Amino acid sequence: MMRIGVIGTGTIATAVVRGIAGDGHQITVSERSAANAAALAGEFGNVSVAGNQAVLDASDVVILGLMADQAATILGPLQFRADQRVISLMAGTGLDQVAGLVAPAKAAAIMLPFPGIAAGGTPIMMLGDADLVGALFGAKNTIFALKDGAELDAYTCAQAVVSPVARMVADTAEWLGARVSDPVMGEAFLRELVASSLAGTESRALIAALNTPGGYNQRLRVHMEDSGITPALMQGLDRLESAS
Ligand SMILES: NC(=O)c1ccc[n+]([C@@H]2O[C@H](COP(=O)([O-])OP(=O)(O)OC[C@H]3O[C@@H](n4cnc5c(N)ncnc54)[C@H](OP(=O)(O)O)[C@@H]3O)[C@@H](O)[C@H]2O)c1
Repeated sequence: MMRIGVIGTGTIATAVVRGIAGDGHQITVSERSAANAAALAGEFGNVSVAGNQAVLDASDVVILGLMADQAATILGPLQFRADQRVISLMAGTGLDQVAGLVAPAKAAAIMLPFPGIAAGGTPIMMLGDADLVGALFGAKNTIFALKDGAELDAYTCAQAVVSPVARMVADTAEWLGARVSDPVMGEAFLRELVASSLAGTESRALIAALNTPGGYNQRLRVHMEDSGITPALMQGLDRLESAS
């Protein structure tokens, strides 16, 4: 059991709390995000709501779910303790910067989760103390402990492939839905097919397995490749990288 505090109980921090609230920790969340804080306290007997300093005073591990550009103003007046460990969820803020915001507490980790962490079964990109992040989240999720900030930046760009993949599934579902009696069932079929295919097989092996000459998968993939899907994707990733 750990005493965990959350400063900035927004969208992602709320999902993070939901993911670990059943594990018996004592969790205190900041009252500022009133609707999220009240919902968590209503759902879980071990979650309570307090002002920011009271959150810190009740916690040994502190999770920061603030917007990065507001963090200095919000954290500046607060007193951290040297025995506290801080996990920051803030994208674009390195461990050194977090250390400056939370001294004398230890900036233990940067962790960039996905909203699915609420239910578990998601990948978690992180830098820093993998033992701490693993102890809290590793039983239900997969921890990807990265080497340094440059690696985290590259992963942050690459994870954006989820939305274009979802776009392709959504467009295919619309095409299918115009031809079948139950469009909702069609979309469910496609989602399960894509998710289970990729979950079970390394991506290049999947392409090879679906490469029957003249087969449906091969013909559609070659059509997409001839239409420029690969250079468009590489250009998009390069643009994300140069803007980060
Ligand atoms: N969303 C994601 O999928 C995701 C994934 C990984 C990392 N992140 C990172 O997580 C951070 C939060 O993102 P988010 O999407 O969860 O944003 P969000 O929902 O806007 O969360 C920010 C929270 O900070 C609260 N806040 C503002 N001022 C405060 C204060 N003085 N004291 C305490 N709390 C205060 C806000 O409360 P009010 O609502 O009352 O203003 C809000 O609930 C960002 O740095 C983002 O880069 C997000």
